[in-house]
Amino acid sequence: MAHLKVAILISGRGSNMAALIEAVQMADFPAEVVLVMSNRSHAVGLEVARAANIPTQVIRHGDFDSREAFDAAMTEVLAAAGVRLICLAGFMRLLSTEFCQRWHDSVINIHPSLLPAFKGMHVHERMLEAGVRIAGCTVHYVRPAMDEGPILVQAAVPIAADDTADSLSARILEQEHRIYPLAVRLIAEGRARAAGGSVTLKNFELPEQRLINPPPR
Ligand code: GRF
Repeated sequence: MAHLKVAILISGRGSNMAALIEAVQMADFPAEVVLVMSNRSHAVGLEVARAANIPTQVIRHGDFDSREAFDAAMTEVLAAAGVRLICLAGFMRLLSTEFCQRWHDSVINIHPSLLPAFKGMHVHERMLEAGVRIAGCTVHYVRPAMDEGPILVQAAVPIAADDTADSLSARILEQEHRIYPLAVRLIAEGRARAAGGSVTLKNFELPEQRLINPPPR
């Protein structure tokens, strides 16, 4: 099977990017990371990508007059690299409608909540404030509205009584690093198809585990 050419867009530390880079290095992984792009020249993740010999590119949003112009510059670089799938990994810019249309069903994002709950920022604090017992993370196709789009993969984690935003974030992040490579694999293997507002998965078995928090005695 031909390898799916993937670009990863980051703005910061890039731990999800690192998880993706590690995953695609496995012999049977049907995708390759051909580019890591950042809108911030000092994004820590860029160093990690360079150390892994992945081509990097910085396109600073501040250098452009409009979101559309910035996005068009990204499209040019992505298209030139032959990219077929764009993974947003802590990329802190909203994408224009034009960009979303140009790359329809070719952009995915990871978000640290069980969408459609807790879209937006400060998710961990807001989940603790709301007192939910189960948190999680979601990989979804990107649509112009923030944190919206057909869902590919989700993972659930329990929230502890003494959790802080940091401890909860760490517990969720561990699962993010598992489900992002899984989502890329599903797409690369042609097993995921967005139709309407949801994703149809081929060869998909229901997991056996159930998560109840607090656990029943
Ligand atoms: C992750 O929590 C991700 O879900 C969210 O931004 C954070 C990025 O972290 N979209 P990292 O840069 O991948 O470490």
